[in-house]
Amino acid sequence: MFSSKIIGVGHYVPENIVTNKDLEKLMDTSDKWIQDRTGIKERRFHSHEKGSTAKMGVKAAKIAMERAGVTNNDIDAIVFATLSSDYYFPGSGVLVQHQLKMGTKPAIDIRAQCSGFIYSLSVADQFIKTGMYKRILVIGADTQNIALDLTTRGRDMGVLFGDGAGAAVLERTEDNKKGILSTHLYTQGEFADLLCIREPGSGHDRIIYPDMHKNYLNIHPQMNGKFVFKNAVMRMPEAIKQALKTNNLKVTDIDMLLTHQANLRISQVVQKFLRLPNEKVYNNIQKYGNTTSATIPILLSELWEQGKIKEGQLYAMAAFGSGFTWASALIRW
Ligand SMILES: CC(C)(COP(=O)(O)OP(=O)(O)OC[C@H]1O[C@@H](n2cnc3c(N)ncnc32)[C@H](O)[C@@H]1OP(=O)(O)O)[C@@H](O)C(=O)NCCC(=O)NCCS
Repeated sequence: MFSSKIIGVGHYVPENIVTNKDLEKLMDTSDKWIQDRTGIKERRFHSHEKGSTAKMGVKAAKIAMERAGVTNNDIDAIVFATLSSDYYFPGSGVLVQHQLKMGTKPAIDIRAQCSGFIYSLSVADQFIKTGMYKRILVIGADTQNIALDLTTRGRDMGVLFGDGAGAAVLERTEDNKKGILSTHLYTQGEFADLLCIREPGSGHDRIIYPDMHKNYLNIHPQMNGKFVFKNAVMRMPEAIKQALKTNNLKVTDIDMLLTHQANLRISQVVQKFLRLPNEKVYNNIQKYGNTTSATIPILLSELWEQGKIKEGQLYAMAAFGSGFTWASALIRW
């Protein structure tokens, strides 16, 4: 039986920094409210002239491949997580495959929103475990800024998100004490309407129809913030505990906890539930806001850059988002 290990990670965020003060000019909000309620100080927005979800993904992927010491020829497949693909169809994975000049290698898009990267890791892990592929590029990238209503009407969602991309190269190993020990995926579709963008969608006469822009509630992201918050703080620790149980490990075995960065308060509650000290937790929402499927690989890539990823250490990751979907992964580096 094979396992898969991460041999390189990379990330890219757009240069354009949007601070809370910048948002104050667009809507009735304040730097204090945003920092107190979410922990966010600033985020990155890309401009459509310069970037797209696929282009950000390519930039992150190139860094991950370079750090892994592999080239496009060494990769057997791409698994691409996003909720904001460049086209309505096809997904952004095929665009990345083309831009990376990867011949006819397969590209699979995963739509699991904020849990997308861990879902994608899980999919890639299964392909590697079965022996079908040896090396897979897993990417999480999202462009949120163009969907947000950056006026007072949309301020509850508008201040939360940023754009970015992260990537990891997974490689087959025969040492099954290392690498991805397990992934755990969950869905609760009954709550799809509580965190979503409804249109453009297939439940209408036409994808685009006259006056569509007037249907404000459908074309911008909508969320029941309090309900999402309560579920996120319950589900992420639950998923991590399940992962530990599966692997016969304890919370005290965790060397580093990486949670999806949706709100610093959510991450702090998860940390508290797990009783982990600050030095075993890494958060970066202050700089980037919620980057959706890019969050977990950006966290990993920053730790890599800081030289904090050490062989033999145990990484616990959890994400929660629209769907609802949630997931955990346990990785022995
Ligand atoms: C969105 C969130 C930060 C709101 O925080 P909250 O403490 O629940 O705040 P509330 O929704 O109760 O709003 C409190 C007040 O602040 C106001 N408010 C909302 N957004 C605001 C903003 N950006 N600036 C200033 N005031 C704002 C509300 O209108 C409300 O005013 P009211 O009391 O006069 O009605 C929080 O619910 C959250 O983080 N939820 C989960 C988010 C998440 O995880 N999303 C994505 C998952 S992937």
